[in-house]
Amino acid sequence: MRILRNFSLKNHNTFGIDAKADRFVSVKSIKELQSILRNNYSSELFILGGGSNMLLTGDIHKTVVHIGLKGKEVLQQTEEEVIIEAAAGENWHDLVLWTLEQGFGGLENLSLIPGNVGTAPIQNIGAYGVELKDHFASCKAMNVQTLQEKEFSLTECDFGYRNSVFKNQLKGQYIITSVKFRLSRKDHKLRIDYGAIRSELESEGISTPTIKDVSNAVIKIRQTKLPDPKELGNSGSFFKNPVIPKQQFDRIVEKHPEIPSYPVSETEVKIPAGWLIDQAGLKGYREGDAGIHQRQALVLVNHGNATGKEILHLSRKIQQEIKEKFGIELEAEVNII
Ligand code: EPU
Repeated sequence: MRILRNFSLKNHNTFGIDAKADRFVSVKSIKELQSILRNNYSSELFILGGGSNMLLTGDIHKTVVHIGLKGKEVLQQTEEEVIIEAAAGENWHDLVLWTLEQGFGGLENLSLIPGNVGTAPIQNIGAYGVELKDHFASCKAMNVQTLQEKEFSLTECDFGYRNSVFKNQLKGQYIITSVKFRLSRKDHKLRIDYGAIRSELESEGISTPTIKDVSNAVIKIRQTKLPDPKELGNSGSFFKNPVIPKQQFDRIVEKHPEIPSYPVSETEVKIPAGWLIDQAGLKGYREGDAGIHQRQALVLVNHGNATGKEILHLSRKIQQEIKEKFGIELEAEVNII
C-alpha cells in the first residue's frame, strides 16, 4: 500500500477536474482498508469510489482513500434466480456486462452508468425505469469507527429516488465494501416501455429482445444523449428532477402544455430538470470551459480546463434562472466537495 503525496485527482473524477489530494492511497483488501482506518481519524480521510458523482471545487487536504477492492462471484442459485456479490471497487458497467454474459437478467437497463459498484447504492443509481434497489439483495459496509463489517438489508438501506441511508443518517459512518444482487436466470422481466428503448429495439428490427438486446439499446440511447466522460468531462445528471406540488404544476401547464411529467403522488409531480433548463434557453450555454451539454441540458460538462469552482458557479446561475422563471428550486444531484 503506497501513500502518494500531492496527487492529482484528474483521472479519478469523471468531471476531469485537476484538484490535488494531500495524500492518496488505493486499498486493495479489507485488511488494507482496516489498517488505514486504524491509523487515522475518519475525519482525516476522504473515501473515493469511481469519482463519477462529485464535483471537486478545491484541493483535498486529507488522505484520499481509493476503494480498489475487486472481485465478483456467484453465491447461490436456483433454476430461476441467482445471488451474485461484487466488490466495491469493480466498475459498474463491467459488472453489468459480466452478469449479461452469464445470462443473468436485471441490470440491463442500468448499462453504461459511470462509477463503481460500491458507490451505486449510496445514491440508488437509476435509469430507464429501473433503480439499483429493484435488484439489490444486501451490501456489506465497514464501520469507520469499529472497523467491523455489517450487512445491510434492502429495508435498512432505506432507498429513495437518488437517495439512501448512506446519504442521510449514516453519512460518513460506513464504507460499502461489497454489494449482493438478486438476478433472474430465466423468464427475465424486460422493462422496455421507458424512454426510447422500445423504438430503439424496433429500429433494429428486434421483436423478441433478449437482456443483451435491451442493454445494447440502452447503451445506444445513452451514447446519443449523454457525453462519454473520457471525451468530455461530466458527472451525468447534475441536478435531481424536482418534485413540485400539483397546484404549482397546473399553473406551469397553462403556459407550457407540452411539459413532460411523472406523477409521484396525488399531490405531487416530478418534472425533468433537463426540460426546465432547456426551456430557459440554456442548453449548450458555456462560460469558459464550464458548459451545459448540447444534447441533455441536465448534464454540466468540462470542455477542457474548467475548475470545479467555475462549474459550481455555472450551476448556481442555472438554479437562479430556474427559480426566477419557474419558481422551482433545483437541488444538486452530484456531491459538491
Ligand atoms: N428534456 C428536454 N431537454 C433536455 C433534456 C431533457 O426537453 O435538454 C426532456 C426530454 O425530452 C424528456 C425529459 O426531459 O421528455 C426527460 O429526459 P431524459 O429521458 O433524458 O431523462 P432525465 O429525467 O433528464 C433521468 C436520470 C438520468 C437517466 C435518465 C434515463 C435523474 C436526475 N436523471 O434523466 O440519470 O439516465 O433519466 O432514465 O433522475 C444520472 O443520474 O446521472 C443520469 C444520467
